[in-house]
Amino acid sequence: MPVMNDPSPEAQLFHLVSGYWHTQAIYVAAKLRIADLLKDGPRTVDDLATATGTHRQSLYRLLRALSSIGIFSQNDNEQFSLTSLAQPLRSDVPGSQQAMAIMRGEWQYHAWGELLYSIQTGNCAFEKVYGAPLFDYLLQNPKRNELFDDAMTSIHGREASAMLESYDFSGTEKLIDVGGGNGSLLASVLQKFPDMKGILFDRPAVVDRSNEHVRDAGLNHRCQLVAGDFFTSVPSDADTYLLRHIIHDWNDDQSVTILRNCRRAMSNTDRLLVIESVIPTDNEPFFGKWFDLAMMVVPGGMERTEEEYGMLFEAAGFRMNVIRTTMEISVIEGSPV
Ligand SMILES: C[S@@+](CC[C@H](N)C(=O)[O-])C[C@H]1O[C@@H](n2cnc3c(N)ncnc32)[C@H](O)[C@@H]1O
Repeated sequence: MPVMNDPSPEAQLFHLVSGYWHTQAIYVAAKLRIADLLKDGPRTVDDLATATGTHRQSLYRLLRALSSIGIFSQNDNEQFSLTSLAQPLRSDVPGSQQAMAIMRGEWQYHAWGELLYSIQTGNCAFEKVYGAPLFDYLLQNPKRNELFDDAMTSIHGREASAMLESYDFSGTEKLIDVGGGNGSLLASVLQKFPDMKGILFDRPAVVDRSNEHVRDAGLNHRCQLVAGDFFTSVPSDADTYLLRHIIHDWNDDQSVTILRNCRRAMSNTDRLLVIESVIPTDNEPFFGKWFDLAMMVVPGGMERTEEEYGMLFEAAGFRMNVIRTTMEISVIEGSPV
C-alpha cells in the first residue's frame, strides 16, 4: 500500500484516485457537526459518539483517519481536538466550510458519480440523477437550498474583499445584486459604502430567507428585496448591475437572455459587473478549470475564457473590459453600446 509521503508518481496518483475517501470522510464529520462539538476543547470519542448518536468504534476510526491528514488531532487517551484545518468545519466561524463540505459530499457527490455521462453526452449529470435542473430541484428542497446559499458564502465569501479592492464602486449610487442569494456580497459592498443603496434580486423563496440576513446586517433601511426571474426581467432602477457566479451556471443562449434582460433594464450610462473566474488559455494550474467541471456536472453551465465572455457581451449589447483581482475571479465590466 502506498505510504502518504511517497513522492513516486504511482503513490501520488493513488492518492488522487482515492480522493473521494477524503470527500466522504470530511462530509460525515461535517454532517455530524464534530467541529462544533469540539469548539470548547478536546472530547473523548465516547462523549462524541453519545452526542452524535453514532457507533463509537466506527466514529473513532473516522476521526483517527481524519486526524492522520491533519483534520482533528488525536490525543493519547482517545480524545480528539480541533486543528487549524478543522476550524473551518465549525459553523460559527467566518469562512466556514461546513455547508460546502455537506453539499459536496451529499447530493453533489451523487451527480459527480455521473461525470462520464456528461462527458459522453454533453448533458448535465445532475439532471440525470435528480430528474430536474439544479435550481428547480432546490426550489423543491428548501433545506438543501438553504445549505446551497450558505455554501455559496463558503466558497465565494473571500472574493468580496478581492472585488472591492480591485474595482472602483465610488460612482455607484444604487447597486442591484442579480441572483444575490443570501445577500452576503451585497451586504459587504453596502457596509463599505454607507451612502449606497442596494437591491437584492433573486427567486421568491431565496429572497424570503435573505430577509433575515439583510436585517441582521442592519441594512434593511437601504436595501430593497425584490423577487423575480432573471429570464423574464430584471428591476430597472439601479445604476450598477452586479452578477456574481450567475452566468457560469448557464449555457450560452441562457446567459445571453439574462444579460439582455439586464441591458433592457439599464440606461446607457449604467454599468454591468459580471464576477467570474476567467479561464486562461495556457496550461498553468488554475482552480477555475475544476470549477468548470463542477458547472458541467451540477447546473449544466461552464466557466469561460475572456474570448467567450466577449462573445456573450457583444451578443447582449455590451462593450467588455476585464479587471483582474488578487484572487482567481475577475470583474468583467460591461458598458452599453
Ligand atoms: C451560484 S448562486 C450565486 C449566488 C450569489 N450571486 C453568490 O455569488 O454567492 C446562483 C443564484 O442565482 C439564483 N437564481 C437561479 N435562477 C434564478 C432566476 N431564474 N431568477 C433569479 N435568480 C435566480 C439562485 O437562487 C442563486 O442564488
